[in-house]
Amino acid sequence: MTKLLPLIALVWAAGTASAQPAAGSATAGSAAAPAAGSDAGSAAPAAGSAAPAAGSAAGAGSGSAATPPPPPPIVVVPCPTLPDHVVDKVDNVELPANEPIELKLNVAIAADLPANALLAANAGEVKCIKFQANGTYAFHSTANAHGLITVKAWYDVEADHPIEEQGTFWMPKAVNEAANESDDMFYSVLGLSIFFFVAITIVVIYFTWKYRHRPGHKPQPSPAHNDALEITWTVIPTIIVVFLFYYGWRSYIRVVTPPTKAVEIQVLAWRWNWQFTHSNGVTDSDLHVPAKTPVRLVMTSKDVLHSFYAPAMRVKQDVVPRRYTYAWFYAKTPGTYRLTCAEYCGTNHSQMACLSNDPETGACLRRAVVVVHSADDYERYLNDKQAESLTLPPIELGKMLYEKKGCNACHTVDGTPRVGPTWKQPDWDKMIQMNDGKMVKMDENYVRESILLPQAKARPGYPPSMPSFEGQLKEKELDGLIAYIKSLKQ
Ligand code: CUA
Repeated sequence: MTKLLPLIALVWAAGTASAQPAAGSATAGSAAAPAAGSDAGSAAPAAGSAAPAAGSAAGAGSGSAATPPPPPPIVVVPCPTLPDHVVDKVDNVELPANEPIELKLNVAIAADLPANALLAANAGEVKCIKFQANGTYAFHSTANAHGLITVKAWYDVEADHPIEEQGTFWMPKAVNEAANESDDMFYSVLGLSIFFFVAITIVVIYFTWKYRHRPGHKPQPSPAHNDALEITWTVIPTIIVVFLFYYGWRSYIRVVTPPTKAVEIQVLAWRWNWQFTHSNGVTDSDLHVPAKTPVRLVMTSKDVLHSFYAPAMRVKQDVVPRRYTYAWFYAKTPGTYRLTCAEYCGTNHSQMACLSNDPETGACLRRAVVVVHSADDYERYLNDKQAESLTLPPIELGKMLYEKKGCNACHTVDGTPRVGPTWKQPDWDKMIQMNDGKMVKMDENYVRESILLPQAKARPGYPPSMPSFEGQLKEKELDGLIAYIKSLKQ
């Protein structure tokens, strides 16, 4: 029995050591991360999410009278020497707006809508075009095969890329510089545990066989103690445990001490979305960060406990209401990586930060991700994203916010109720009943109040679970959301 004591000590020490660097805990979770289910879907161009963008804006947006007429959706441009984006088959693809696209097909294609006629190309022709408006562009070949091009901002196209997960059996690819230390720690603890488990099991089985009861054998009294043996089984595990502690502590200190010069990003979590606010005020549900620069996250929650978990960064940190917690990492390589909430926060926890749903099944097509850019692209992201929120027509802005602010987690736009009422508004400008029996007119003022003070006038039959968006939406964004809801009248 005493033989087992040092082993228990070792296993216990191993357990605590691995729990310390936020990394060790990555192991079990990453394989079975709640996100696993819908990955295949995320690769597919999120069809449906981008409804006819360019066209509708002009007609429906009554508030957009002052904005200049939208640019033509497609223009022909000279081909770059090294094209980044090539369409070489009739298929569903996602492409960035305002970047040259090379059409290079061995069949002739034509656009489904006359307004997009410039999309047409002859078989074998190399032609370059540029999409100037987000939206979907359907096209077909002369052989009557059909394709759909979904055009989005370039950074959203990158966020839609399939998640990079290739790694070992135990862990996804490590992208954070500090991950090497914690990964080494994990593998040492794992190796030691396996070694001692196997060694002790073999000895137990051997002794059970060797000292089994046989007729004619008398049991001999056990020796009271053996100094040499006891010193050995105390000193060796102690040395191992001290090493584990030292390396665990050293990398833990690194994990909790961000460098003073870091890109700082504010993180706000709520049921069920993330909001990342950058230094220039740009907000997004995807975390866009520069590579080869320390990034520090200052995190808090609007409602309950969430946990920010980026497995490729080996970063997992609770996000707590009414206080700030911190995390930091230094991403080595650009790419698109998984991001999940790792703390059960309510019914939709496993769907937290779902940014696009299948319109028919309601299944999540894509969840928020970490996108690591080169330093230049991160700057470009900050500028382009800021410009986007200033130039989008109100309905388009509202539609974007519907997904980016996570409204879609609780509200549908097709008439079916979810956690909250649907945004489809047949009752616009009519009187509707509240849960206290009063009648209120469904108009701009009601929608505005419901966004800022959701519980002020609540509809019957829905839980009072919506958080306030007071202080988190600019006036223009509020107008956009109202315009979008209003546009869903029919
Ligand atoms: Cu947020 Cu789980």
